[in-house]
This record gives sequence, C-alpha cells and structure tokens, in this order.
Amino acid sequence: MTNHYVEDYSPGRGALTPRAWYPLSDAKALSLNGSWRLRVSPTADAEDDSFAEPGFDAGDWARVVVPGHWVLQGDGCFGRPAYTNHRYPFPVDPPRVPTENPTGDHLRVFDLPEDWPADGGAVLRFDGVESCARVWLNGTDIGEFKGSRLPHEFAVGHLLERSGNVLAVRVHQWSAGSYLEDQDQWWLPGIFRDVTLLHRPAGSAGDFFVHASYDHHTGRGTLLVDSDIEGRVTVPALGIDIATGETVTVPVCPWSAEVPTLYEGELTTEGERVPLRIGFRTVESADGLIKVNGRAVLFKGVNRHEWHRETGRALDLETMRQDVLLMKRHNLNAVRTSHYPPHPAFLDLCDEYGLWVIDECDLETHGFVEQAWRDNPADDDRWTPALLDRAARMVERDKNHPSVIIWSLGNEAGTGRGLTAMAEWIHARDTSRLVHYEGDGSCRDTDMYSRMYAGHAEVEQIGKELDGGTRKRRELPFILCEYAHAMGNGPGGLADYQRLFEAYDRLQGGFVWEWIDHGIAHPGLGYAYGGDFGEELHDGNFVCDGLLFPDRRPSPGLVEYKKVIEPVRIVPDGTGGSVRVTNGYDFADLSALAFEWSYQADGETVASGSLSVPALAPGESADVKLPQPPAGHEAVETQWTVRAVLAADTAWAPEGHEIAWGQIPVAARPLPVLRPAVRPVLGPVAGDGVITLGPAAFDARTGAPKAIGAIEVSDLRLDVWRAPTDNDEGTDWLTGSCDAKLWRDLGLHRMRHRLDAVEPGENALTVRTRVAPAASEFGLTTVYRWTSDGDRLRLAVSVSPDGEWPAPLPRLGVRLALACADTVRWFGAGPGEAYPDTKSAARLARHESTVDGLQTPYLRPQENGARADVRWAEIGGLRIEGDPAFHLTARRWTTEQLDAATHLTDLTPGDTVWVNLDHALHGIGTASCGPSPLPQYQLRAQRAEFSFVFSQLH
Ligand code: GAL
Repeated sequence: MTNHYVEDYSPGRGALTPRAWYPLSDAKALSLNGSWRLRVSPTADAEDDSFAEPGFDAGDWARVVVPGHWVLQGDGCFGRPAYTNHRYPFPVDPPRVPTENPTGDHLRVFDLPEDWPADGGAVLRFDGVESCARVWLNGTDIGEFKGSRLPHEFAVGHLLERSGNVLAVRVHQWSAGSYLEDQDQWWLPGIFRDVTLLHRPAGSAGDFFVHASYDHHTGRGTLLVDSDIEGRVTVPALGIDIATGETVTVPVCPWSAEVPTLYEGELTTEGERVPLRIGFRTVESADGLIKVNGRAVLFKGVNRHEWHRETGRALDLETMRQDVLLMKRHNLNAVRTSHYPPHPAFLDLCDEYGLWVIDECDLETHGFVEQAWRDNPADDDRWTPALLDRAARMVERDKNHPSVIIWSLGNEAGTGRGLTAMAEWIHARDTSRLVHYEGDGSCRDTDMYSRMYAGHAEVEQIGKELDGGTRKRRELPFILCEYAHAMGNGPGGLADYQRLFEAYDRLQGGFVWEWIDHGIAHPGLGYAYGGDFGEELHDGNFVCDGLLFPDRRPSPGLVEYKKVIEPVRIVPDGTGGSVRVTNGYDFADLSALAFEWSYQADGETVASGSLSVPALAPGESADVKLPQPPAGHEAVETQWTVRAVLAADTAWAPEGHEIAWGQIPVAARPLPVLRPAVRPVLGPVAGDGVITLGPAAFDARTGAPKAIGAIEVSDLRLDVWRAPTDNDEGTDWLTGSCDAKLWRDLGLHRMRHRLDAVEPGENALTVRTRVAPAASEFGLTTVYRWTSDGDRLRLAVSVSPDGEWPAPLPRLGVRLALACADTVRWFGAGPGEAYPDTKSAARLARHESTVDGLQTPYLRPQENGARADVRWAEIGGLRIEGDPAFHLTARRWTTEQLDAATHLTDLTPGDTVWVNLDHALHGIGTASCGPSPLPQYQLRAQRAEFSFVFSQLH
C-alpha cells in the first residue's frame, strides 16, 4: 500500500531535526497561506499520486483556505466535523485506521518573490496539519509527518524554481497519529496552521537555546545562549555583547507574569540576525513548592484549547491576542495549553503580556480507558519514538519563551514507559523548567502532584498533607490542572476552592476547565455541538464547557472567576470606619492601582471619592480609614463600595479598568411592611366570582390573583422546578448521584397543585394547597396568605414538607405570568446572574436591564439568569419587595419550554412574561464533570416562610 506511513508507528520521514521557533522578517519568509486547490476523497487510496507532478491540471478542483479545516469549508461538501470526548470514532486496532479515511489532496503553485536571495538554502515549514501529511515539491517526495499540532520542517532549497513551484500535500483525517491525539474536541482534518517557506542563508542560525536565569538574592540575571552556529548575542539595554556559549551576569528586572519585563536582543550569526526577547526568571521546585524567582506562585489559571467558532483550530493573531487580553482583564495569571502546544505566536503574547504557561504535549490516548488501558501506546515501546518525537518538537520549538515554566507530557494517556521516556528526555534537555503530567498518581516522572476535578474536601486534605500516596508524591506541591467544569450555567463553588488555595501553601492553585465553548457557528442552529452534523457516535454539548461563549463574550462564569481570583482583597475590618486591603499578588506591589470609594443608599451611589492606599508589598495588609458617611440616609440600607482600578494604561487594559472590589455594609435594610392603612381597609370582599382585597382581584374559586391594580397577573403559584443545568444533569463523582435524574424520577417537572381551601377571612385571604408530584407520596403543604393596606398587597407563603424528601429541590418560590414587561429594575445583587455558589461577582446596587437582557445564552438552553439578593424589583408595572430578599428571574418562555429546547433557536418568545420570585435556589456545583454543590448550597425541602409586597407603579 502506498500510504504505509499512515498506519505505522513512526513519527515520519524526511523532516529536519526540531529547533527553536522564532518569527522571521518578511524578507526571509514567504507565507504560503491563502487559497489552495483541494480534492477530498473518501478513502486514503482512492486517488493516485499524479496530482503532485508538475503540470497536473487541478483547474476543476475546489478551493480551500489554508490555514483551515476542510470540513469547516465548502458548506458540507468536503465532509463534516465530528465530536467525541474520549471514544475513538474508529475501531481501536492500533496502529491501523479505517479504510474510510477522508483524504484531502492540497495543491499550491507559487513563484519566489523577485528579491528572494539566490544564495543559501530554504526550509519549508508546516506549523500544524491534522492528522498527517505527505509532501511533494515539484514532483519530488520530500517526506511525511504526524504530530498534528507540532511543527515540521523540510530542507527544500535544492528543489526550488524561481517560478511555478508546485507544492502538493496529501492529508489524511486518520493515521496512527490519531491514536495519540484523542483529545476531547472536534475531529477537524486539514492544514490548520501556517505554511511558510523560509530562506536560510549560509551561516544562518540553526537551533539556539536562550538560558536567562534570575538570582533573587542579588537581583542579577545570567544569560547564556547556546547555539549550534557560532555568533554574538547583544542586549543593548543591558550593555550585553557576548559570544554564544559565553555567560554574563548583570543586574536585571526579572520576568514574571505580573511584571513581564522583556529585553530585546539579537543573535547574530554569520548569515543571519535573529531577534531575541529575553525574560530572566528561575523556576524551581524548592521546599515542596513551585517557585519562580524565589517566590511561590499561586496559579489562577485556565485551560485553553484553540477555538474559533468559524475556523475551528485555525486562529489568527488577533483572536489569539483577544484571548490573552481577555485573560489579563479577568485577573487570570496562567494558562495550560490543553492539550497540545498552541500556535507559536500565542506564546509570544504570553511572554509579552505576562501569563505563566504550562505547555502541554500533543498526546492523549484516552480512548484506551474503554479497554482498561490495554494496548495503550504510552506503555508500548513501539510507540516510544513517536512520543519522544512529540516531546522534542514541543520543547525545541518553545524553549526560548520565558512564559513557559512547566512542560506537560500530555493529557489522559494512562501510565507507562513511553511517558517515563518523555519525562527523562525533557528533564535532561531542559533543567530550567518543571515537568507536569496528571495521569500518573505515583508522580514518578513529575515535579508536582496534579489532579483534575477533585472535590473541595479532598483538596483540603491534600492541602493539609493528609492525602497519602507515594513518598515522592507527598513531598510535591499540588495543582489542580483542571477543575470547575465551566459547562453551561456555572461553575459553582469557585470561591470555596480559592479559599482553600489561599489557606494552604501546598495548594498552588488551579486551571479552570476550560476557556471557550467549542460551538460551531451554524446557520440553522445558531451554534452546533456534538451530534448536529449527524455523527453516529458523539458526546453532545460536552464540547461547550468554556468561560467564553463561542463569540468570545464572557459568560457569567468568567465574571465570577475574575472576582474570585482578584489579586487584591478588600473586606470590612470589623470597625465599620475602615477597610482592610490585602495585596494578593505574588510579585507586584500595589503601586499600579488607584483606589476609589463610593457610598450607596438604597443601592444608589450618593457620594464617592478616592482612597489613599499604601503601595503594599505582596502579602501585606493595611487598614485604611474611610471618610465620614454622608448624612441624611439613616432610614435606608447603606453600604460602602471600594474599588481597585488601574492607575494608568497598561498593555492589556486602560486606566480605570477594575481589578478588585469589596463592599462594606453599614445600615441594614428596613423590611417591607404594610403601612397602617390610609383608609379603613376592608378585608376580602367576595363579589361575582371575584374576591377583592386592596388593589387586587382574585378568582373566587381558585383564590389566585387576576390583577394587582391595573396590572394583569395570572398563574401565580408555588414553583419548585427549573430547567436542569448541565451541572444538574451531571453525575457527582463522589456520590454517583445526579440531581436532574433524581428530580425527574420524583416528578418535580410535573407537580400537581391541589386546592384545599379558599378562605376569605376578616383581614386576609388564605388559600390552602398541597403541591406534589404524581406517583409519589411526598408533598409540600403550601399556604398563601394575602393581606393589604389598601394600596399594597402582601403575600406570605408558608411551605411545609409532607414526608421525608429524598432529594434537594431545584428552587422554592412562586412564579407568575405578566401580560407584558420589558424594562426590569432592581436593588439587589447584579448586574449578572448569581446562584448560591456563583454569587461572588454580583454586587449590591441598583441595576437595570430588560427581560431579554436578563437571559444568559447557554448553548444548550437551561436554567439561567437569576438575579440574587433582590430587595425590590420593578417589572411590568409592578413593584415587588421581598422579605427576605429573593431571587428574580423573568423570561418570555416557560420553564417547560426552556427545558425542552436543545438549541437557543428553539426558544420563541411569547407575549407572556414568566416571572419567578424565589425564596431559595439549589446551588450549581460542577457535576457536569466533578462534584455537585457543597452541602451548604443544596436546597433541602424544609419548612419555609417568605413574603412579597406588591404594588402598582404609577
Ligand atoms: C478532562 C479532560 C478534558 C475534558 C474534560 C471534560 O478529563 O482532560 O480534556 O475532557 O475532562 O470536559
């Protein structure tokens, strides 16, 4: 078979040895990105190789954009994307792959630019091709490679013509390499990163290794550049001019993610000047901690897959920059490049703006878990050369980035000799960084203990060093390389994790899973997820689990994370007159920040000013005096808000950008009560099928309100159901239980309301009911008691469980329908949604939105949009005050419609606005992959009393 290499263990043939990557000036590089000819065949051997011959007429072939994935172009005529989490979408028979192996033959004819130098050689570089490629230039077979997200270079100088060069690339969707690339993401074949022709003058730099360390005792940096070609290294700002191989030590400002000082330099060889960007830093594992420049680092990280809703894993520079800016603006300080080395330009951005990077190798064999890891390539010597090739291609390409402080062997590849060989090779090649791999609990190959999705209690045990494990593991620092699964509404419990990270030194933080939803823009569905392209085997919307929506709008989860990891803590100091400010940075003092205070009465800011805070060093705290509270607001709830903002523009955000904030309550809220009646209040008056009480009219038969003043109200009743979130649908790792399943089994989505009595009394209308699911003996005895002072109407609800409820409740409150509503105003937490365990970012203030604006567009529709701690709200002509404060939700569809929808396009707004006034909500947790809500956030069915005062707005 001609394509034998597709199915063999080898990494390839013909490529040059891997080396450092660096951007080249245009004069030395010819981009071969752009429009290519493409022919897609259904099998690997459907076509012969004649297309690679010069003179082949591809005039009737389609066109495709390189970099790109052919399945995301051509409106489906080149095949379709497919999504699986860890199951291989082909029979597991390594290294063989199916005969049905979509194959893309790519052709590009190019001329050399006029000024292309005649001397020297040339290198053809592919930065990423999925899953393998065979390459011909001008009819000559120059080689083959696997390793989709890794660079491959070929020497081609001897083959180049001035014009009419024919570059032919045959790409197969499946190859032996696919067994090593079983990451949880879309399968997307294609030449998805840059293709470049590089001029290599005689005497040009080959590989070079910049060693730039920092001694925090002396404040001096040491520079040594190893190069396989002799040359000189200059760093003008430091007065450095040394030969390669020579060491120099000078005073420097170190590089850190917080203060990413880079020095511009140059490596000059006989034939070339290579730009260098040098960051001095020393990474070590010391005293059981990951330290940089002598200090322990706390990772506030995220896992980043490369994703764009239209182009998949083909990302342009602006999108990469947007990711980095969004990360910096949301207080993130670290990124794990899950689960492969990213486009090299992304690491330049991390160097420049400052992010700690765990650079992960393109290796995952997760599908073997289905057969208890039998035949796992990571433990099979035949595969070891391919594994080592991958390790080398990552390390050699990225070794000169100061931001990269940890190498990761890969993800979910089981355990085995291949991984050990990779770790040994990496440790020997680069002693200046640490090695990570999560999959081996013994930590034999790694420099840190790493886990994913461990629950809070276990993390605390690890923090206390009570977790056991191998001796080596017990001595290692700990990170959560994945936690807080950001799928749909959530993740819940972030603040609780952060409290642990900050309490125990051994816990050096974590990386939220994951950065962005991998939704694919789809004309009919808005966004497509697994199964939407007719895949037989797929994992649904499990691929949409990011902190960003696919259009890169931050989800509430990212807003929450920003607050939870804020590097400055601003809390009440207990005296009422001052505020305690703590610097939570690892390296920077607070001199880059300005502080502002404001004072709110009934949620409205009535005074503000600036606050002088000392430039505290990392870890330091100060109590800062607040001004005298403004007078005249004694009768209402009052509070301070103190904000830390950027004092000046930075590379990543403008002056005034908010970094951190805190609120300090002053006077509590007077609870809403009915005023003494302005005129004698009549109790309920029974009329013609109607009972009147103050401003309200009730149906005399059902006791349900029909109107409050002129505002039509219908369907008011107890509600316990919510459209399950992705986290509700998940199975808790610890208990094995799934809230949504319990709820549906119990019938909470189809509660029955039995009317027991409508009792117009002297002062109140009392309506007695029993609310219970069919086929079950459990119920909630629910009494609605209505009173009025003439203008205002009070509803007191009391709920008592009947029987031992075996599950938490999704929600507990009343829902009602309004004939119309648009603007929503409230005094409570906001502006965004907030649930019991996702509430950190919501601040107490007056907020305004619209019914549509309250919706959070999770790709698979589910419960969303609740506003928490609402004291009062105005909606649809009604003012609603709560005792106690409540959660407010309003939408133009019912919970049942929300529950039934699979895509946002299934939701069609009706005229009615459905409003939920919730006394309590069940927490969110992160059971879509991990633990369900902590006990304190679970909503237990127990006795509850809550009330609302309604009045018509005039
Ligand atoms: C982890 C895995 C990730 C992703 C996540 C769930 O086990 O490493 O790639 O699959 O679970 O979204």
